Amino acid sequence: MTYSAVTGWGMAVPEKVLTNADLERMVDTSDEWIVSRSGIRARHITGPDETASTLAITAGRQAIERARLDPVDLDLIIVATVTGDYSFPSTANLVQDALGARCAAFDLQAACSGWIYGVVMAHQFVATGAMRHVLVVGVEVLSKITDYTDRQTCVLFGDGAGAAIISASDTPGGVLGWTLGSDGAEPERLYRPAGGSRLPLTRENIGTHDACINMKGSEVFKFATRIMGTAMLEALAQAQMTAGDIDLFIPHQANLRIIEAASKRLGLPSEKVFVNLENYGNTSAAAIPIALCEAIDQGRILPGDRLGMVAFGAGLTWAALVLQWTTPTT
Ligand code: ACO
Repeated sequence: MTYSAVTGWGMAVPEKVLTNADLERMVDTSDEWIVSRSGIRARHITGPDETASTLAITAGRQAIERARLDPVDLDLIIVATVTGDYSFPSTANLVQDALGARCAAFDLQAACSGWIYGVVMAHQFVATGAMRHVLVVGVEVLSKITDYTDRQTCVLFGDGAGAAIISASDTPGGVLGWTLGSDGAEPERLYRPAGGSRLPLTRENIGTHDACINMKGSEVFKFATRIMGTAMLEALAQAQMTAGDIDLFIPHQANLRIIEAASKRLGLPSEKVFVNLENYGNTSAAAIPIALCEAIDQGRILPGDRLGMVAFGAGLTWAALVLQWTTPTT
């Protein structure tokens, strides 16, 4: 078996920022409520010319440059998203063409858990020797399916993209443990009712709440606080490690209270927990790779560090990853 390493990384967020003060003017909410219940202060929102592919291409290009690769070196592009440019084809196809890659490409849908799902998949191809370089992008433009009259959801979500290249490596490390999960029993806990084959978009439902994110917030909250710790511990056990071995915990950036509950369950002090949701809100599949990029930029990741990552999302899905960093970051 070959080891896998993150050799390149990149991120992109739209320029436009939507602050809590902006939201106070749009719905019956307050900065105090949003910060105390979620920790979020601002989120980046796409303009009319920005889409999932434009953000994914920028993040992907940065990752290729950092890995010092030629786009034709890529063997596969996986784009994790629920807000791709089209229902079909995959946003990954658009990214492949724009980057000048000549490889397989497909989208993967596991909501906020999607990027970790993609990294685990990339690791399988790399570990077996079938592929050498896989670009995994997490991108979401949830603002385009957010109901800005629904105060429960519109304060939470933002847009962005994060990318990483998973490459074959001789250095021990990389993906050491993982777990992926699904509980699809009650999809309506978090879903978009219209726009699929069950309830296609029609003249009547376009622009209605059914065509936007519908969420039972407190049910998702309870699920998340339970699953984040459990999934992380499963992935750690597979890596024959304990929570105490984690140098930096990079959880899904949905809600500060959920992150604090998971960190407490794992016994991790706040200095070992990376949080940036105050600036981005919940960018779903993009949240963890964006956090990874910022953690690297801030000098919080050094070769040899063991990273714990865990996400939950619509489905409901969950995914956790233990990754030992083996690439120079300076
Ligand atoms: N401003 C002011 N009041 C609000 C707002 C708001 N933005 N939103 C809800 N409220 C009100 C509610 O109406 C309710 O009022 P009521 O008691 O009069 O009915 C009150 O605040 C409390 O509502 P709760 O839902 O109990 O608030 P809670 O503390 O659970 O926080 C939140 C709500 C932030 C949505 C929380 O439940 C949460 O974060 N859930 C998880 C959501 C999540 O992470 N989703 C993403 C999953 S990932 C993916 O795949 C996209």
